[in-house]
Amino acid sequence: MINIAIDGPSGAGKSTISKLLAKKLNITYLDTGAMYRTVALYCIRNNVSISDPIAVESILDNINISYTGSALDKHICLNGEDVSLAIREHQISKAASDVSKIKAVRVFLVNMQRKIASESDVVLDGRDITSVVLPNAKYKFFLTASPEIRAQRRYEELKQKGQELPYEQILKDVIDRDYNDSTRKESPLIQTEDSILVDSSDKSIDEVVDFMMSYIK
Ligand code: DC
Repeated sequence: MINIAIDGPSGAGKSTISKLLAKKLNITYLDTGAMYRTVALYCIRNNVSISDPIAVESILDNINISYTGSALDKHICLNGEDVSLAIREHQISKAASDVSKIKAVRVFLVNMQRKIASESDVVLDGRDITSVVLPNAKYKFFLTASPEIRAQRRYEELKQKGQELPYEQILKDVIDRDYNDSTRKESPLIQTEDSILVDSSDKSIDEVVDFMMSYIK
């Protein structure tokens, strides 16, 4: 199996880059952040308090995650409903970051991710892929960029979708989420010693993909 593990903070370009790598290699792409977002969406829709780990743990059995669409354009489904657009709402980002602190949620999703990686060649991106989910992956990368660049990219992405938010607010959200994701107790975002550091701040998407492909044999 080829497993490519990519971690990094939000907005570093992980999903864009991972999708392109998967396409070049003709393998599957798995966006693990989308899984945390889907759990958060379920909680919000069903009035489950995300700050109550016991309440969240008790509803995990009600969540069935599946996929629809093609290998290169997979859409995530929550109990059969395609929620790939709903999970991209700005408010879901913070909720997903909060839900991802809960140990039971992590165990639930990490098991699912490992199963998928054991059955197919896959590019996985997230926060704990290189450290926890697939520490023995053949290729491990840490993809990052400065907070200002990440906030700017996010600002443009939201604007294109018609959600215009002040840049300053997005930058604050990026910095807060970095703090949240890298200081939490359960599987914080870290760069493992054996991951290749890729800083995308002043690189084009193609340059990043080419750089990473130069390591992949
Ligand atoms: O990559 P993203 O922004 O869609 O991820 C949403 C949240 O999920 C993020 O704030 C941290 C969490 N997450 C995680 O804890 N572990 C992962 N492997 C992927 C995402």
